[in-house]
Amino acid sequence: MAYDGKILALARADIAERRRENDAEHQRRRAEAFARLPELHTIESEITRLMTDVATTALQRGENAGLAVLNARADCEVLEARRTALLASVGLPADWLDEHFDCPKCRDTGYVMGQPCICLKELYKTEAVRELSATLHTDGQSFENFDLSYYSKVPDADGGTPFDKMSVVFKLCRDYADGFGKNSTNLLFQGGTGLGKTFLAASIAKVVSGNGFSVVYDAVVTVIDAFEARKFDRGSDVADDAAAHVRRCLDCELLILDDLGTEMTTVFTQSALYTLLNARLLSGGRTIVTTNLTLLEIEKRYTPQIVSRLEGDYFLLNFAGTDIRAMRRQRDA
Ligand SMILES: Nc1ncnc2c1ncn2[C@@H]1O[C@H](COP(=O)(O)OP(=O)(O)OP(=O)(O)O)[C@@H](O)[C@H]1O
Ligand SMILES: [Mg+2]
Ligand SMILES: [Zn+2]
Repeated sequence: MAYDGKILALARADIAERRRENDAEHQRRRAEAFARLPELHTIESEITRLMTDVATTALQRGENAGLAVLNARADCEVLEARRTALLASVGLPADWLDEHFDCPKCRDTGYVMGQPCICLKELYKTEAVRELSATLHTDGQSFENFDLSYYSKVPDADGGTPFDKMSVVFKLCRDYADGFGKNSTNLLFQGGTGLGKTFLAASIAKVVSGNGFSVVYDAVVTVIDAFEARKFDRGSDVADDAAAHVRRCLDCELLILDDLGTEMTTVFTQSALYTLLNARLLSGGRTIVTTNLTLLEIEKRYTPQIVSRLEGDYFLLNFAGTDIRAMRRQRDA
């Protein structure tokens, strides 16, 4: 699993927050117990003194050191038993003064022997999904809610029905999401407006992200803006944010590039797009591009380098049907 730096930082901040909360709770419990049972102060300083003695004695390694340590331990146990009894006398459990951890395995540090703990991995997934939904407004857009009944069963000019075609597309997308990994291909979603391209791309993003892969969703225009902002005001916060944004797009395991063809065609946008597509192919990350453009329009609009990448390295999925956005508007009106 490759970690996205920004999301890892969020997950680690979550753990730090847990630690702060648990620490505050620990202090609160101690304060309460010490206020109700002043004798705890004496017991605690006595235990601390015994521990220090034991440490010093053990270091001296004198003849009677072993015996002294044993005696000190026994004294400690008596004190601890007294403390437990005191706590019980006011109805508090024996571990009331102990530190509490959400994850005892890593003691809320997020790491066990230098490796990410399972609790950190879980938080990472949660943060990844949250981060994604910040850019992808996909309330209710998931495979479960994909409604095939929007697609007509009346044959198109080519003899196939939108319903049959979209059933295949739907199944391909679901399998793609479930089996996402090293062997996955890049996808090019092609079709008219309102046919469910963004819907299915979002559904894939959710599943893949939930499976622990780093997923970034972005409209082509937004990514190109980031490429541009990165160049201007070098060293400014805006440029730094933009550079980080571009890095995430280049480095993630799955990038969804929505609405290719809505950006202006300039030398700069063509070069940014080429850099992006090419870097994605080199890094081995997978990309899903959605577009309203037909292949012919793509060929007319983009440089041969971009066209050859889109045609050669992407698996084309044609979306069929009639504008669902418009159908819904009519139905709701
Ligand atoms: N199969 C479906 N079931 C339910 N709702 C759908 C389905 N397909 C699309 N929709 C809804 O219809 C609207 C348009 O879909 P979507 O945004 O995915 O279209 P699109 O193909 O990305 O269009 P555009 O090319 O304009 O971006 C959205 O509100 C979406 O939630
Ligand atoms: Mg769309
Ligand atoms: Zn842990």
